[in-house]
Amino acid sequence: MPFTPSPASALGTCGEPLIVVKDIFGTIWGFEPPFGSWPCQHRGVHQIFPPPATEVDPGDVYHDERPLVGDRPWLMVNMVSTIDGVTDVDGVSAPLGGPGDKDIFGTIRTLPDIILVGSTTAVSERYNPPSTSVSTKARRLANGAWPVARIAVVSGRLDFDLTLPMFQRPAQRPIVVTTVDADPVKVEKVSEHADLIQCGNTSVDLPQALRDMAGLGAHRVLSEGGPSLNGALLRAGLIDEVFLSVSPLMGGGDSRGIARGDIPHIQELILRHVLTEDHFLFLRYSRAT
Ligand SMILES: NC(=O)c1ccc[n+]([C@@H]2O[C@H](COP(=O)([O-])OP(=O)(O)OC[C@H]3O[C@@H](n4cnc5c(N)ncnc54)[C@H](OP(=O)(O)O)[C@@H]3O)[C@@H](O)[C@H]2O)c1
Repeated sequence: MPFTPSPASALGTCGEPLIVVKDIFGTIWGFEPPFGSWPCQHRGVHQIFPPPATEVDPGDVYHDERPLVGDRPWLMVNMVSTIDGVTDVDGVSAPLGGPGDKDIFGTIRTLPDIILVGSTTAVSERYNPPSTSVSTKARRLANGAWPVARIAVVSGRLDFDLTLPMFQRPAQRPIVVTTVDADPVKVEKVSEHADLIQCGNTSVDLPQALRDMAGLGAHRVLSEGGPSLNGALLRAGLIDEVFLSVSPLMGGGDSRGIARGDIPHIQELILRHVLTEDHFLFLRYSRAT
């Protein structure tokens, strides 16, 4: 199509300047630049697998049936990692993220009834009570989840500070998941700020903890890590679905990935989708069987 240059029309669909050419008849043509502009890396989330590649609403592509697995909730894991497997910078994961990643994180948080987190992560990332906004409630209800998610912190030692924000909203008491053998004095103090699930002796019996969550009516649980908790969940064969944001960064150091510890077996998963925005990849895998 002939092209009339103006500030608004001088940009292609991805925002890059068009290549403007005047032909021998004096007609001006504007062409999309040939490289680097597809898929747009800075305008909305694009799904590149399964095909066809298209712009998507993340709320739609993460929506799915997630049935109970026997007598326990479906368990999802969400983590962000650099290309080389770094999952924190100085004890926090925020430097690995970006605006698109935050949106996807928010979308994934509309899926579970309970958000499970290891005590180290809950403390280092200063967990807050989950959102109670009207829009979040509406998105959660559309996904078949409780209107407001609950946080469940896993800890054997119960050494964390009870003045942390997640313990400060009585209307949104978190759950603390600990052992039967936990120090009774600490259990007593924690119970002033949180509901307790106690199972397992030297360490938390994670399958039983999930069954107890099903007893509370939870159908879907999301682990937000960290890697030690994820490793324990993997060892117990409890991971049904993994959301991995690959950040376009490399960090080196002692990178050990999103699940840590002795892994007695390799679990196979299938790729469900690949999204991209801002040079991030958002991968979704689920249990193969
Ligand atoms: N990139 C990401 O997406 C992401 C996500 C989350 C966290 N992170 C980063 O990961 C780091 C923390 O990860 P982490 O692996 O060191 O720790 P973590 O998994 O967050 O927490 C480990 C703690 O959880 C408790 N725990 C876990 N499994 C248990 C079980 N079966 N029984 C009893 N207690 C259990 C223990 O708490 P007690 O010691 O209290 O007994 C253990 O020390 C932070 O730097 C955080 O920023 C990154």
